[in-house]
Order: sequence, then structure tokens, then C-alpha cells
Amino acid sequence: MKIIDKVKAIVNNEYPLVTNLSNVSSVLKEMKDINWCGFYLVDKNCNLYLGPFQGDVACAYIKYGKGVCGTCLEKKESIIVPDVSKFVGHIACSSLSKSEIVVPIIKNGIVMALIDIDSPLINRFNEEDRKMLELVADVLKELDY
Ligand code: SME
Repeated sequence: MKIIDKVKAIVNNEYPLVTNLSNVSSVLKEMKDINWCGFYLVDKNCNLYLGPFQGDVACAYIKYGKGVCGTCLEKKESIIVPDVSKFVGHIACSSLSKSEIVVPIIKNGIVMALIDIDSPLINRFNEEDRKMLELVADVLKELDY
């Protein structure tokens, strides 16, 4: 089964948000050649805090506009970073991570959360990944935040 179909099958708005995002993080972990996948959620001050994830311990809190995640929040658009060492301000949670994709979950024009995925390979993520994760974000925007 494709990732998007699994996500559609497991997500249920009758469960708490943390339950849905936890299970979706597990499904995202099926992507090849990744070392971290999970969510950052937007707080009332428009900063990011760590949500459910799979992988090593990560930054608990990221300020608006900081790092790849904070930039994604600011720009309200997906970001593919082919080589994190070339992204000025990149926040390195793990020295394993070499490339990254971040996709916003936007509900009624407001970013509610981000999907963040790291790879130990340079240039791991492409347009196909972006489109797939944006479909996942489209499913997840229907949840209550
Ligand atoms: N690299 C991210 C921080 C989050 S970790 O990758 C899990 C950033 O620069 O915002």
C-alpha cells in the first residue's frame, strides 16, 4: 500500500491529534534512506515545538524564521534542502542528516504544523516526495489542532 493510502486509512479525527500524528510518523518512516521523520507543531506565539517523530532526540523548540523548519513556517511553502551544510541557519539535530524536506500543514491559510524528514544521503528528496508529502499534509489539515 502507498504511504498516502496508509495515512488515509489510519487517520481518524475521533482520536487525539498526538495519536494520529504518532501513527503517521510511523508510516512515514517507511520512506527509504531517511534517518528522522516527524512533526513540529505551531504554538500560540508562532514558534515550533517538537511533535511525534521517529528517530534520534531532536530540537524541542524552533523559533519562527529559524532553521529550515522556521523558514518553512514563515514562507508557508515546502522546502527541499539538497545539502543541509549549504542552508544558512540550518539547525543540525543529528550529524547523520545530510538532506531534508519540510512540508507545511496549512488549514484555512494558517500553518498548523510541519512534516519534517531528514536523510543521511545528500540530495535524497525530489518533487515526487514533495507532492506525496503535500498530499499527506492535505489529509492532516483536516485534524483539530
Ligand atoms: N533541521 C531542522 C531542525 C529539525 S531536525 O531536522 C529534526 C531545521 O533546520 O529547522
